[in-house]
Amino acid sequence: MDVFEAITSRRAIKHFDPAHRMNDAEVTRLIEAAMQSPTSFNIQHWRFVTILDPELRKELRALGNDQAQMTDASLLIVMTADVDAWKKEPQRYWKNAPP
Ligand SMILES: Cc1cc2nc3c(=O)[nH]c(=O)nc-3n(C[C@H](O)[C@H](O)[C@H](O)COP(=O)(O)O)c2cc1C
Repeated sequence: MDVFEAITSRRAIKHFDPAHRMNDAEVTRLIEAAMQSPTSFNIQHWRFVTILDPELRKELRALGNDQAQMTDASLLIVMTADVDAWKKEPQRYWKNAPP
């Protein structure tokens, strides 16, 4: 698949099979792919929080406009960020950059 086909055929999926389970290798592969996302100065200040507890997922669903995918998708990841990361020795982000 070329990049334009990937862009035009991509869709936001709304309905999931609640009985489907992903294995650890699949979850790791997805998170490792997400970690390829670019960040300013390669700061990589995202934090991926995987929500496993079904009761917690129900609570999040209630907070998220009762959207079924919050409990029914086989994986729920909350994306957070360390917004103070830039204050923590920012020089280290470019220490290996070519002059
Ligand atoms: C910032 C943002 C927030 C979104 N939030 C939700 C959401 O809370 N629930 C949901 O089902 N879809 C959400 N979507 C997906 C949009 O509904 C979807 O991208 C849009 O309808 C276009 O459909 P497509 O992505 O299949 O082309 C969100 C999309 C964006 C960009």
